[in-house]
Amino acid sequence: MTHLTADDLLGSIKDTQRNEPDSGIIVAVNRGFGKPGLIPLWTGEGHLPTPDFICKAAAEGLRNGETFYTWQRGIPRLREALSRYHEKHFSRPVPADNFFVTGSGMQAIQTVIQLLAGQGDEIIVPTPAWPNYSGPMRMAGVTPVAAPMRFENGHWRLDLQRIFESVTDRTKAICINSPSNPIGCVVPLEDLQDVLGFARKRGLWIIADEVYSRFYYPDNGQLSRAPSFLDICDLDERVIFANTFSKNWAMTGWRVGWVQAPVALGGALERIIQYNTSGTAAFMQRGCVAALEQGEAFADAQVRQARENRDLVCEALSAFPQLRFEVPKGAFYLFFAVEGLSNSLDAVVRIIDEANVGLAPGGTFGEGGEGFLRMCYLRDPAQLKEAIERLGNWLSDARLT
Ligand SMILES: Cc1ncc(COP(=O)(O)O)c(C=O)c1O
Repeated sequence: MTHLTADDLLGSIKDTQRNEPDSGIIVAVNRGFGKPGLIPLWTGEGHLPTPDFICKAAAEGLRNGETFYTWQRGIPRLREALSRYHEKHFSRPVPADNFFVTGSGMQAIQTVIQLLAGQGDEIIVPTPAWPNYSGPMRMAGVTPVAAPMRFENGHWRLDLQRIFESVTDRTKAICINSPSNPIGCVVPLEDLQDVLGFARKRGLWIIADEVYSRFYYPDNGQLSRAPSFLDICDLDERVIFANTFSKNWAMTGWRVGWVQAPVALGGALERIIQYNTSGTAAFMQRGCVAALEQGEAFADAQVRQARENRDLVCEALSAFPQLRFEVPKGAFYLFFAVEGLSNSLDAVVRIIDEANVGLAPGGTFGEGGEGFLRMCYLRDPAQLKEAIERLGNWLSDARLT
């Protein structure tokens, strides 16, 4: 018999896997998941279950025997539906051949990283950013290079100069997430144009994460979508999109997303999909077709709710003098600085234990994030009000570190 200790075992796996820090969001969730009465505002999802018409379409697929291996790139019906959806929302044709179905938006990101970069390469990531870019990059031997955003006159903005100056001969891509998780800021079209112009000149890829593009709250109040690289790029240049069904249609638990990429990359993407997952369940893709074809009213209602909740949360939290934040223009997070807070993970754990509210720690979002907390506000408004009251009581009692 061989008795290996945990250190023996961990000592013989890859450094990149052993040394990768835990996501602070998952630390929080593991601390409080299932705690009675806890109000969970820690991850990026609402309280509504997936609409019935989507579940029914998936169940029908299952009953119809769609239980076999399927197209690696996604079922043709879904790729065609994605094409029509993009034509509607981005006012330009994007052929079905440009779409590749993945097992979640997260996996779309993973796929794109695997496609573009490897050991020793660098990808530039404006921060604070969702930790699920830098984690998989490091695990693939890629260095995520933080380009902290500027917070000026109460507004977050990409630091274009910093992004451009961070480019080295190892840089493969610039990763732009707008509307942003965790800040909720929306990159204006002129900044997207500058990034695209620079990337073109330097032969760099742009990884565009626009999963919250429908969750956009322009001052004129109209439902619309955020400025997008699709407004300005060609379909066959170095711009690649990672997207998901999770957010618009309350499908976070389904784990289905997509990559939109130049057609020329089809074979390369198909190979990555084959060797990672060998495709996404066909019956789930039926549900996704229903989401795209019949889900407009639901998606619009989600956006309306998020916008109302944003106003509710911002108004309520602006009463606390120790909090500072920009009113977000998109996504469904409030990212707020707490005076005197230096260890956001400790604070989040205490807020779970002592106030029964689940938040995400700002420090996990990288440079510029420590001292902040993130709250997902896509929730039942009554629950949100209760969570804010609990948080307010906690803040007035807490001795922060
Ligand atoms: C910015 C961003 N991109 C992508 C995703 C991926 O979503 P999923 O893996 O649920 O499809 C998320 C989820 O929170 C996100 O916040």
